[in-house]
Amino acid sequence: MTGERFAAVDHWIARHLIPDDPVLEAVLKSARTNGLPAIDVSPLLGAFLALVAHLIKARRILEIGTLAGYSAIWMARALPQDGHLVTIEVNPRTADVARANFARADVVKRIDLRVGAALDVLPTLVDEGHAFDMAFIDADKANNASYADWAATLVRPGGVVIIDNVVRDGRILDEATDDPDIVGTRSLYAAMRMDGRFESTALQTVGVKGWDGLLIARRR
Ligand code: DHB
Ligand code: MG
Repeated sequence: MTGERFAAVDHWIARHLIPDDPVLEAVLKSARTNGLPAIDVSPLLGAFLALVAHLIKARRILEIGTLAGYSAIWMARALPQDGHLVTIEVNPRTADVARANFARADVVKRIDLRVGAALDVLPTLVDEGHAFDMAFIDADKANNASYADWAATLVRPGGVVIIDNVVRDGRILDEATDDPDIVGTRSLYAAMRMDGRFESTALQTVGVKGWDGLLIARRR
């Protein structure tokens, strides 16, 4: 019941604040048609990512976890013409779906899709000398502490790192769990607590995705 209300409010807010967007709707439709899980960011979160990118005038964005490309398209649209977004997807078939969606959204020129395990791809980005203004981490939660560590290397001082799904219905309090997603999320907080390279907070969210949250950090 409460969850339905959270979702209804999300829909109501989106109807007011988010313009209808046939391209983004087609992206979500392609995700479902291709059997991808419905774990894309919500429209309001997509708009939030674009808003942050605009606010910090991001020119270079890193995303870990592409899925169908929905969040990447939101962020790519917030880039200037010569901006770029590097997004990493582990599953080649999922990457094919994303690639088609980037073409659909006409953002191909600004998106650099890397197919592979993020922990393999991230070191190559360091070798290539990337410095990102913003990173969005939304992949397997088990590796989130490592992804945050790489983000500290790859994001410039003053840049922002946003990590999805850091509340998980409150299950982050569950010390005894062996669920790798929760263990990974708890490790992320433990790592951030010790990590002097970030100033950070986390915000709990409710909406179409239920009860979850975002960790938002500034690279010092
Ligand atoms: C899951 C992953 C996500 O990135 C998300 O936003 C929601 C759920 C999951 O793996 O269950
Ligand atoms: Mg997510």
